[in-house]
Amino acid sequence: MTTYAESLLDQVPVIPVVVLHDVEHAVPLARALVAGGLPAIELTLRTPVALEAIARIAAEVPEILLGAGTVLDADQAKAAASAGAAFLVSPGSTPSLRAALRDTGLPSLPGVSTVSEVLTLLEEGWTEMKLFPAEAVGGRELLKALASPVPAARFCPTGGVAPHNAADYLALPNVGCVGGSWLAPAALLQARDWDAISGLAKDAASLR
Ligand code: 3PG
Repeated sequence: MTTYAESLLDQVPVIPVVVLHDVEHAVPLARALVAGGLPAIELTLRTPVALEAIARIAAEVPEILLGAGTVLDADQAKAAASAGAAFLVSPGSTPSLRAALRDTGLPSLPGVSTVSEVLTLLEEGWTEMKLFPAEAVGGRELLKALASPVPAARFCPTGGVAPHNAADYLALPNVGCVGGSWLAPAALLQARDWDAISGLAKDAASLR
């Protein structure tokens, strides 16, 4: 079976997870991340402007790896793909959501938080997935425990991953990259401090 997320985990060490409230922030934010050497962004579909933000970034910052996050159902998967997302991320996954992710043809990271969910995804041909909420469900200890019995699964842990623990996650053999919201904090977005965001991106890009 095709593995849709084949190379997604190997693009950048950290995928910036972004909750955007002002669509005017989208393009300068994307440019700031690229300038910092971290050409990836996951726009979460948690705000009314998220799809428009994806469309603007797709049109104006084509060099960034552009994803949609918090994809919860088939309609959102389709809408994100239509807006220009190049990859999709979901916090958890149901059979119908996984089918919808596949139907888009885009690389995707379905979310898991238990061993049985990992095994279910492997049965369906997914080898790369998001562990969410990583810290709350066992974090590095869970990933270490999975590495030996379930070596085929690779993860992007997200949820509680931050500068103090990101490098430790990235050192694990079954972690390809991590996701985190620390690259685009609300205060820096509000202040339009793109240089500070580029600085955070630069630090994150050097984590691996
Ligand atoms: C996500 O959507 O993956 C999380 O909200 C990001 O979690 P964090 O804010 O703990 O980085």
